This record gives sequence, structure tokens and C-alpha cells, in this order.
Amino acid sequence: MMRRNISISNFHIVLITQTGVIYYFMETFSKNKVYVTRKIPEPGPSILKKYFQINMNPEPDILDRDTLLENVKNVDALICMLGDKVDSNVMDAAGPNLKIISCYSVGYDHVDIYEATKRKIIVTNTPNVLANTTADLTFSLILSAARNIVNADRHVRIGNWESGWSPDLFLGYDVNGSTLGIIGLGEIGKLVAKRARGFDMQVIYYSKTRKRQMESELDITFVPLEELLRRSDFVSIHVLLNKDSFHMIDESKIKLMKKTAFIINTSRGQVINEQHLINALRNKVIAGAGLDVYESEPISSSNPLTQFAQTVLLPHIGSATFKTRSKMAEVAANNIVNFFNGRGIVHKIN
Ligand code: DGY
Repeated sequence: MMRRNISISNFHIVLITQTGVIYYFMETFSKNKVYVTRKIPEPGPSILKKYFQINMNPEPDILDRDTLLENVKNVDALICMLGDKVDSNVMDAAGPNLKIISCYSVGYDHVDIYEATKRKIIVTNTPNVLANTTADLTFSLILSAARNIVNADRHVRIGNWESGWSPDLFLGYDVNGSTLGIIGLGEIGKLVAKRARGFDMQVIYYSKTRKRQMESELDITFVPLEELLRRSDFVSIHVLLNKDSFHMIDESKIKLMKKTAFIINTSRGQVINEQHLINALRNKVIAGAGLDVYESEPISSSNPLTQFAQTVLLPHIGSATFKTRSKMAEVAANNIVNFFNGRGIVHKIN
């Protein structure tokens, strides 16, 4: 039995041989070129290799702009991720073949959606698969910030723990029984609320649209943003970055928070006015912050945020588990496969 390799774009071919065996040719869109801006884990590359000509940056590191512009030339599809600025210049460099931009992330603020839509380029993302992992990390930030975990660990490591148990060593704040304010009740916000029940927290939330069904399911209460800030012991941000959420938390909002409250951010850095947060931490307007994201990433060790004992700072690792990153790669690859085989695009943004 001979398996012929046929390369015609956008068609499925069913070949019935003399023996009646049916071949279903998925290789039909193998002429399409896919560029992956940084190394993604399996099964992403294998899925893509099955159907397309794939070129992937072999390193996980971000490409310099010129290399990116060179490497996207004539591609039909692009897999990109945070830090890649996919704007009109990249789309111009890719040329008219570019039909789909698949983000290896749930956030898509690194892509100029307006420009893509204007050019009829589909943009997709990887929702859901990373929500639990990011909710876990959000909780680890809440716990670490409230209970001085990082400072206490350092204290032990550098040999400062000399006098054994002490009545006032690293006193922190209770997470159990406290009030959690969730800003943005998407997938991640919901899963953070679910975890909070296990800590007997009272959960209040603010979101642009009220989610009444979720309120009864999760036993949470909708409140206006200002009230949420006034009442919460932990304010956790879970909104997408857009023109409405940019600097949504600024000096005027931070001022409403309790002196004993913490702000937690695993969404996008630009949602908080970072300079205002730095001023608030310096002046002890709030108790602390647990951050995974920043206005401009990466931050350097000279960023004032690093000088406060009351901050826990992570290098944007919300979705960073082996399982989740691999799932994200699978979804990002399948978004392209589904697009070219006409099965319908599942995670379409525009
Ligand atoms: C996302 O997906 O947007 C996260 O920030 C990185 O996984």
C-alpha cells in the first residue's frame, strides 16, 4: 500500500485504493509555514510538524527585533508569546500569507489586535488550561506575603536564626477568616475564589459585568470597586489588560485600602500604576504586595520594589508548571491546525 504525500492547501483528500482502503490526507496543508518565536514544549512542535513546515527558534529566549522580522517572512501562521511585540511591522514583514497569530498565552496584549483584525488575521489564545495553575500561584503569593515566607526563609539560610523560637519572630497576618477582594471574575478569578473557601475567607468581587450565577455557586458577593478596596485584607487582580484596566489601581485607589491590606497581582503589571504602588509601600499606606507581573518586564534588582521587605516578587511564573506549559503548547498548536483544516477556531479573540 502506498501512502502518497500530497501537498495542496486547505483541502482534505480521501483516497480509496483498489483494495478499498481509505486514506485520509491531513498532509493537505503541509505547504503552510508556521514560525514559532521561542522554543515551546511538546506536544506543540510535534503537532505542528505533522501538518506544516515549521521553523522554531531553538531557544526559549526572546529574539532581537531584526531576527524576528527576518524569520516571520512569508509565514502563514505565527506562534508568539509575551514579550514579542506583534505589531504592524511584524505583520508587514510576514506579508500577505499570514492568516493566523496563535498566542502561547491567555493574555494577548502583546499583539496589535486592531491591526490584525484590519488585515483579517485571526488571533487566538490559550484560555482555561492555565487558570488552575495561575490560581495556585496567586494563593502562594497571598500566603507568602501575609506570612513573611520569603523573608523567614532567607533569615534561616543566612544563619540569622540564632535564638530559637521567639514570641515576635516574623509576625504576619492571618489568611484564614480574612476578606479577599477579587478584581475580575474570569476563569482565574473564579478559581481563586474557590480556593479561598478552603481558607474560610469571605470573598467579595468586582467585575465589569456582574456574574449572578457565580455568586451563588461560589458564595461570593459583588461590590463596587471602591467598596472592595476598603473592605479587603487581600486584593487580588485578575483582569485582562486593556484601555479600561490600564492603571486601574492608582494612588487614589490604593489610598482606599486598609493599612494592613496586601495587593496581589498575577494578571498584567500595567493594571497597577507601579510608581504609585512604590510610593504607597514606602509610606506604609498598605502592608505589602505579592507581584508576579510588572509595568515593564523584566525588572532589575535596582527597581525600588526589591527594596521593601513587605514585597514578594516573582518573575512572571503564573502558568509555569511542566503540565500547564505543555498543555498551552498543545492548545496553541491545535488552534493553528483547526484553523487550516476548517474545523473551526476555538479560542478566537478577534
Ligand atoms: C498568560 O498566559 O497570559 C500568562 O501571563 C503567561 O502564561
